[in-house]
Amino acid sequence: MTRAATIALLSRSPAPESAALLAALPVPVVLLDGEDGFRHANPAAEQFFGLSSSQLMQMRLQDLVPADNPVFLLIDQARHSLITIADHELTLEGPRLHKPGITVQATPLPEERGAVLLVLQDASAARALDRRMNFRGAARSLTGMAAILAHEVKNPLSGIRGAAQLLEASVPEADRELAVLIRDEADRIRALIDRMEDFGEKPIERSGVNIHRVLEHVRRLAQKGFAPHIRFNELYDPSLPHVWGNRDQLVQVLLNLVKNAAEAITGLEHDSNGEITLTTAYQHGMRLAVPGSAARIHLPLVVSVRDNGPGIAEDMLAHLFEPFVTTKPAGSGLGLPLVAKIIGDHGGLIEVDSRPGRTEFRLHLPMLADGG
Ligand SMILES: Nc1ncnc2c1ncn2[C@@H]1O[C@H](COP(=O)(O)OP(=O)(O)O)[C@@H](O)[C@H]1O
Ligand SMILES: [Mg+2]
Repeated sequence: MTRAATIALLSRSPAPESAALLAALPVPVVLLDGEDGFRHANPAAEQFFGLSSSQLMQMRLQDLVPADNPVFLLIDQARHSLITIADHELTLEGPRLHKPGITVQATPLPEERGAVLLVLQDASAARALDRRMNFRGAARSLTGMAAILAHEVKNPLSGIRGAAQLLEASVPEADRELAVLIRDEADRIRALIDRMEDFGEKPIERSGVNIHRVLEHVRRLAQKGFAPHIRFNELYDPSLPHVWGNRDQLVQVLLNLVKNAAEAITGLEHDSNGEITLTTAYQHGMRLAVPGSAARIHLPLVVSVRDNGPGIAEDMLAHLFEPFVTTKPAGSGLGLPLVAKIIGDHGGLIEVDSRPGRTEFRLHLPMLADGG
């Protein structure tokens, strides 16, 4: 969040939309007053401290972390230098708190004497998560950004658009083209923001989903639309249990994967040999440890989309799920981040294998009986 936006948010008592914006941030954020008393805590912060916001409002940071913790030094430095100061690998430890490896960022709010905004990030947990899990992080960072963009950009943008439209009617013919250009470009930004809003934190509604019907639907859409010449192979396990998921979101995921596969193939010279293989399988004993906890997730359903296109370059692989990463002239680079976000919301995992002639995206998903 930009500093200006933060200050605008917190210097007033939080208006409903700014509370929603703060609540959407996946990162713990608290506002302290001049005595280190809690003045504001977002839901991620409540979770971090294991206390409700109203409990925190009765407390000071010293009640949770002993006064000799280096975090207080950091806060004081920020207070006195009036600039944002960050420290890494701090351990926030007290009678009811044990949080090693925290990156703390302290930002003073000059409008309010002594007030400091703290952003707390658990870096150790992020590192411990394996690479597949980390794909989720890329999409999460977009969640907060999408909320800010929607909030901060949409209104001025519709002002710009409206003004351009008025100009269109009144300027001389020769300048009309420029006014139209402004309107069209404003529409393009608007469309981008709308797409980014797909990343917002909405609770997902789940039920038992027949993944074969979803795949069938996606294949038909592809063949009628963007992949008329591509051959589809379907290798389905007919006894596969239902997925515990959201049907429409799973359509979105598979459509994005199939579209990428088709676009990779269409880039080939001999696209008449293009082939996409859709596979479903039940994987016994697929239980994964969740780092830092005793929990195991059970993801027995595997759905894969494979193509015989040119493959993904090695240096692309590491950034594949990050927003705006694209190799296509008109690509948005938002397809795979959305896939990662949705699969993450489902508690699932994604694996990618790619070499020339064989690229496969494998989704590991939870099954109905386990979830509900
Ligand atoms: N099946 C695939 N084969 C080759 N490259 C792929 C495949 N799927 C994704 N990619 C690469 O990943 C990039 C990001 O994909 P995506 O997030 O869907 O954005 P976009 O499709 O808009 O470029 C693509 O530009 C492409 O380089
Ligand atoms: Mg795409």
